[in-house]
Amino acid sequence: MSEYIEIIGGSRLDGEVRVSGAKNAVLPLLIASLLTNEQVEFSNVPNLHDVNLTVQLLQYFGADVEHRKSQVKVAVPRLVAEEASYSLVKAMRASFWVLAPLLARGRAARVALPGGDIIGARPVDIHLSGLEQMGADIKVKHGVVYATALGGLKPATIDMRFPSVGATHQLMMAAALTPGTTVLKGAAREPEVIALASMLNQMGGEVEGAGSDTVVIRGREHLGGAKVQIIGDRIEAGTYMLAGAVMGGELTVSGVSPEFFGQFLEILDQMDVSVTPGTDFIRVKSRGRIKGVKVKTGPFPALATDLQPLLMSAACVADGVSVVEEGIYEARFRHASELSRMGANIQVDGLSATITGVECLSGAPVEAHDIRAGAGLVIAGLAAQGVTQIHEPQHIRRGYESLEDKLRRVGARIGAKLSDPEDYLFTGC
Ligand code: UD1
Repeated sequence: MSEYIEIIGGSRLDGEVRVSGAKNAVLPLLIASLLTNEQVEFSNVPNLHDVNLTVQLLQYFGADVEHRKSQVKVAVPRLVAEEASYSLVKAMRASFWVLAPLLARGRAARVALPGGDIIGARPVDIHLSGLEQMGADIKVKHGVVYATALGGLKPATIDMRFPSVGATHQLMMAAALTPGTTVLKGAAREPEVIALASMLNQMGGEVEGAGSDTVVIRGREHLGGAKVQIIGDRIEAGTYMLAGAVMGGELTVSGVSPEFFGQFLEILDQMDVSVTPGTDFIRVKSRGRIKGVKVKTGPFPALATDLQPLLMSAACVADGVSVVEEGIYEARFRHASELSRMGANIQVDGLSATITGVECLSGAPVEAHDIRAGAGLVIAGLAAQGVTQIHEPQHIRRGYESLEDKLRRVGARIGAKLSDPEDYLFTGC
């Protein structure tokens, strides 16, 4: 038996959805607890498969972990391993970020290269060149990064050739445990970078400028404990905002700051969605059928690439033509073919997709290829006439806590079901 998500489309969405803690903040912050031997307490931790994997990763490196619902306490009295194997990194690419804490605290690390994935090649050269500029000796052999800094890392001024979120996290962690002043120029400005900076500040590292393109870190010999509340998930929020915009009604998405969205709120406005930001919520109200829009993804504050598949799903039922350009990953349009199975009119040309809105999609069995592509199919399924079955929902579960419950509470007809493999005997004939 395998699980799938079933949606009966067409229901209006009204009410309030509360988002969970951000997946893309909690993973690097949990990993940053490897930097200290003191306890770090996290609250608002989402219940996600990737969080469980990260907890196992921390335990492998010597962490005592108490994990109760959305609270996690981590203490790593000493590092007991210096290697993250290929299977660990392959299961979750954020595991690669252990490189900096292992190197800064333990002076040596062996971490498998993550390799590419379904959305692109995803190199890690910016991570490695930044650590080299901090004095690390790095060799890559047989797909494994061997890094040492026997005399300790050194502060440096690092020009990042691209504002990579992961490399900014990695280098901030390394610099916080390296005495002296490290400057990151061309750093990523995403809210998750600010979240890590504020954790490192609590731990005693002095980090200034996070959220701008120059981050200055005055590192310390030792870092202490911290109490950290994980910020709300802006991508989960964007998912519900787009679902609400497409399905009509009035939806309040709470638990997230409106400052985390960059250009996304203006884009919703261009799509003729009424957007009212509050202190920790955003209310979206449909003004009728949404309008087509021209967008390009990019580093914050530009449209987040993780919102692109979701926005494309909404554009499928918009009035008019939308153009969606992908500015971060080179292969992030695989969801287009699944949407076409539901009646969408999408032409993909390299890094650009032209979507001519249709009045209505029709439900179909489809497959989630990754987290956001899968969530995009949920939006399409809500908007479609009839029944949509989304297979391989484990991808969606990596990034969404209680997705079906949250949507059901605001009026969606959605649930998880089990399929009999016999049903698919003739697939492909
Ligand atoms: C993080 C997010 C991911 C999001 C992405 C971009 C997590 C767990 N994941 O991924 O959901 O889609 O930010 O917002 O937080 N690059 C290089 N060399 C490097 C590093 C990156 O060329 O050394 C390129 C990548 O191939 C990609 C672009 O830079 O084209 C952005 O990557 P990056 O910001 O590093 O993404 P991640 O941190 O991996």
